[in-house]
Amino acid sequence: MSAEENLNTLLKENRTFAPPEEFKAKANFNDPDVYKRAEADPEGYWSEQAQKLSWFKSYDKVLDWDPPHAKWFTGGKLNAAYNCVDRHREGPRKNKAAIIWEGEKGNNKIYTYDMLGREVDKTAHMLMELGIKRGDRVAIYLPMIPELPISMLACAKIGAIHTVVFAAYSAKALNDRMSDTDAKLLITADGSLRGGKIIPLKDNADKAVKDTNVEKMLVVGNIGKESNTSWNPDFDVDWGTLKDKMPANPVPNEEMDSEDILYILYTSGTTGKPKGIVHTTGGYLTSVNHSVRSVFDIKEEDVFWCTADIGWVTGHSYVVYGPLSQGATTLMYEGVPNYPERDQFWNVVEKYGVSIFYTAPTSIRMFMKWGPEHTEKHDLSSLRLIGSVGEPINPEAWMWYHKYIGKEKCPIVDTWWQTENGSILIAPLPGITTTKPGSATKPTPGINADILDKNGNSVAPGNGGSLVIKSPWPSMLRTVWGDDERFQNSYYGDYKGVYTSGDVAHKDEDGYFWVLGRDDDVVNVSGHRLGTMELESAIVSHQSVAEAAVIGRSHVVKGQALTAFVTLKEGIKGTEEMKDEVKQEVVKQIGKMARPEEVIFTAGLPKTSSAKIMRRLLRDIAEGRVVGDTSTLEDPAVVEDLKEKYQGKED
Ligand code: WTA
Repeated sequence: MSAEENLNTLLKENRTFAPPEEFKAKANFNDPDVYKRAEADPEGYWSEQAQKLSWFKSYDKVLDWDPPHAKWFTGGKLNAAYNCVDRHREGPRKNKAAIIWEGEKGNNKIYTYDMLGREVDKTAHMLMELGIKRGDRVAIYLPMIPELPISMLACAKIGAIHTVVFAAYSAKALNDRMSDTDAKLLITADGSLRGGKIIPLKDNADKAVKDTNVEKMLVVGNIGKESNTSWNPDFDVDWGTLKDKMPANPVPNEEMDSEDILYILYTSGTTGKPKGIVHTTGGYLTSVNHSVRSVFDIKEEDVFWCTADIGWVTGHSYVVYGPLSQGATTLMYEGVPNYPERDQFWNVVEKYGVSIFYTAPTSIRMFMKWGPEHTEKHDLSSLRLIGSVGEPINPEAWMWYHKYIGKEKCPIVDTWWQTENGSILIAPLPGITTTKPGSATKPTPGINADILDKNGNSVAPGNGGSLVIKSPWPSMLRTVWGDDERFQNSYYGDYKGVYTSGDVAHKDEDGYFWVLGRDDDVVNVSGHRLGTMELESAIVSHQSVAEAAVIGRSHVVKGQALTAFVTLKEGIKGTEEMKDEVKQEVVKQIGKMARPEEVIFTAGLPKTSSAKIMRRLLRDIAEGRVVGDTSTLEDPAVVEDLKEKYQGKED
């Protein structure tokens, strides 16, 4: 069977995997009573976890819950950069590797905690020199280079709020985020390398700062001479030049309130523009620190590699804040998995002796497609725990991961969570939980998750429903930046005081959670979350387009792929060039990761009599299914026409 066919086989996997005895014996969390303890006294449990952080002043109260607004560890004072950097410089971790950075060209840098601390101090001096103060917003548009986490930590050190924008986002998306947060400073680079190609970051940044209140742009010289970027001496500041002028003395860690904002990170929702998710200091840090100890079982000697870009929440929590708050060694890799060759990830694992590896199902399916010969070229014996995040992992991919990467000895942690959650909420504890391929298993200790029907009752085993969290948790989002009403409606509008995730799931007889996917118009392409409304408004901004509907159809590697159904204005021809223009419009408005895979021109879109586009029918057409109920359609003939068009398309 070819790898492609293999991927398509729907394997029924009934095997379960208990924690290996040796793993269990040494695990940070191996007493199953922890679940009961946390359930009986959640506040006591979370307070115990918060004690693992260093507080300048202890909190007066664990939780203030005025649904849907929560305050955690009120009255407590702490600093995230102190917890992630300086406190480790004071003890035996001073000269331990904090960040191992591997560049795409095979170049590398290793920062010990002490070195990282000096870089963060210098950068904090730069921020202050550029007029940044506590509470100001700083936008960061950087590739996976060390200056990215260093900038984040420097912001945290002086109490500025960072908003990181993934480097593949367009100038327009960057502009939206800087306008919404009213950012004062933008940190970017001249360019970045991706798969051997240069990406002109500063050109995008130059466009993006127009019509914003950004006062200065701090530019890292990442690719040097080849970059060829323009330079405005009144506005642009060269990172290297300014850094050289900065004093060497440490910058004090600002004493932040537990509830002071640490960062804002944008994510796609069902409607309208992306939401600025607000995370605060004490609760966020408590949860991410708890999860690296419990779910990832991080120990002093581990090398932890989360392959996510820091531009996403997974990178915030599991490249930066989680591992560093625990004084662990975190690895960050600048490049892509298939450059220079398809064995690149395994090359990196072997080179640094990575012991915990965390990636997305879409990557695992890509590795499967490439075949095991690439993994077999390398010694992966350093690995002891492997994880998955971002979308449901199909059992075939789980088994492949188990066999070829985990060599049948590493537990797999399939971790479910969201940007809004800040940290992992549903996942096995590898020293306790027996895993089932395809299930994220159970809520982690202290998390009260459930699956509800429309009336708010827990569903019976086997039935689907809405995945919710019934009690507050420390790293929950506090609000949507600048729009608390949207926060309340989007997340707490369905059931009173209960967080609605927007995912559908079911529970099995053993109480294991099986996440099926989104309940709304959010698609998940290669683990990237995109809102269909956002994509549609990008497409209709093209002058030749009258109307558009975007859906995610199942895709063997990406999980979902984007199909755009587009109606052109009168007299405009649906040529191949026009298809490219439509795709390009999305790249321009949002970014490369949102480029639709296919564009289908159609005379009309299926709509209900109240003019709602029926995306469900479009999905049926795109996935080649029998088209569902069309009785509520205003013009059922549209569907027949679309089916014909879709079958006639060249891929
Ligand atoms: C999906 C990424 C199934 C889910 C951390 C969620 C998953 C969305 C899993 C959040 C998983 C994430 N199993 N589905 N283990 N992990 N998801 O905000 O639909 O980029 O709502 O956060 O990804 O995506 P986000």
